[in-house]
Amino acid sequence: MPYTTITGIGHYVPKNVVTNQDLTAVMETSDAWIRERTGIEERRYIDRTKETTTSLAVEASLRAIADAGIDKEEIDFIVFATLSPDYYFPGSGVLLQRELGISGTEIAALDIRAQCSGFIYGLSTADQFIKSGMYKKILLVGAEVHSVGLDFTTRGRNVSVIFGDGAGAVILEATEDKDQAVLSTVMHSDGTYAEKLSYMYPGAHGGYFIEKYGLEGFDVEYDLENNQYGGVFWNQDMLDQARVYPHMEGQAVFKMAVRKFPEVIMEALTKAGLGIEDLNLLIPHQANLRINQFVANTMGLCDHQVYNNIMRYGNTTAASIPLALSEARDEGKVKKGDVVTLAAFGAGFTWAAAVLRWGK
Ligand code: ACO
Repeated sequence: MPYTTITGIGHYVPKNVVTNQDLTAVMETSDAWIRERTGIEERRYIDRTKETTTSLAVEASLRAIADAGIDKEEIDFIVFATLSPDYYFPGSGVLLQRELGISGTEIAALDIRAQCSGFIYGLSTADQFIKSGMYKKILLVGAEVHSVGLDFTTRGRNVSVIFGDGAGAVILEATEDKDQAVLSTVMHSDGTYAEKLSYMYPGAHGGYFIEKYGLEGFDVEYDLENNQYGGVFWNQDMLDQARVYPHMEGQAVFKMAVRKFPEVIMEALTKAGLGIEDLNLLIPHQANLRINQFVANTMGLCDHQVYNNIMRYGNTTAASIPLALSEARDEGKVKKGDVVTLAAFGAGFTWAAAVLRWGK
């Protein structure tokens, strides 16, 4: 049975840099608050009329394809992880296929909805397809455009200051060489906490879960009398109540993240037959520098064993791990044969990790 190896990697971020200071012009916040709580100094936002989630993915994909030295027509499967798709449907995978100019290949395109864990969920999925022999050259992308959907008023500041736009991509191919392969992947979720980090409107739930679980602060008015069948997916009250923005209970996310990161990292290392002493580089999801520092301290890892770039990009959700891995490679921080662990925790809650030996 073959193993999976990364043969190409690339990332792309929009040119527009937005500093913490820039955000003070539109909401009550400060550079000191954002830096202290999150480590973020600046993030990138798209040019709203010229760039999209898919266009960022295209740039990252073309770089990964060039890095792998393959033709884009050789790709036999696309896996696209995002929580900020250009369209509600169809998914981003087919848009990427079209924008890459490879629609004619008629290859399958799969969208992954696992938020911050999306890239590792995608890697695990792709790994199974390569091991089974079904696909040989898979394009896996994580891309996000958060900026266009955030609440840029003081009301939304706890969420808006954290997120940024960006994309990262890898080409995955089969190899017989275990010394440059994905050695393990693990995935978990617990839907108990679904609404703690969520974007619930528009949506088909019609308030059902809000009533069932007695959730506070999510309700909207539904005018069912004037709508014989529909009227719940979206309505004016969702806009009036400002429900069309992400919701995050930051402390609940923080507490669970610092518990689950070490667990899932150790689980993936153990599954790979390795221990923490074998780890050369940890690339954690870039949600909050303080979470990553806490995890590093708990696990006894030194600064040079953990790669962070959240200072420059904020939290780019499904893009954050390939973006960090690509930069780490470009900076020479990951070398052939190194044991690299990727780990993520986020909305769902979902969490996941992967261990690989770097082969490039
Ligand atoms: N600027 C200034 N003040 C702010 C801001 C801001 N941007 N945001 C919130 N505040 C205020 C609050 O209003 C509150 O004021 P009050 O005490 O007068 O009520 C005070 O700061 C403290 O707010 P908390 O929300 O309690 O702040 P906390 O210390 O929890 O930090 C943070 C918030 C940074 C969001 C933290 O909880 C966190 O990082 N949690 C993890 C979040 C995370 O990882 N999310 C993403 C993971 S999943 C994914 O990537 C999709």
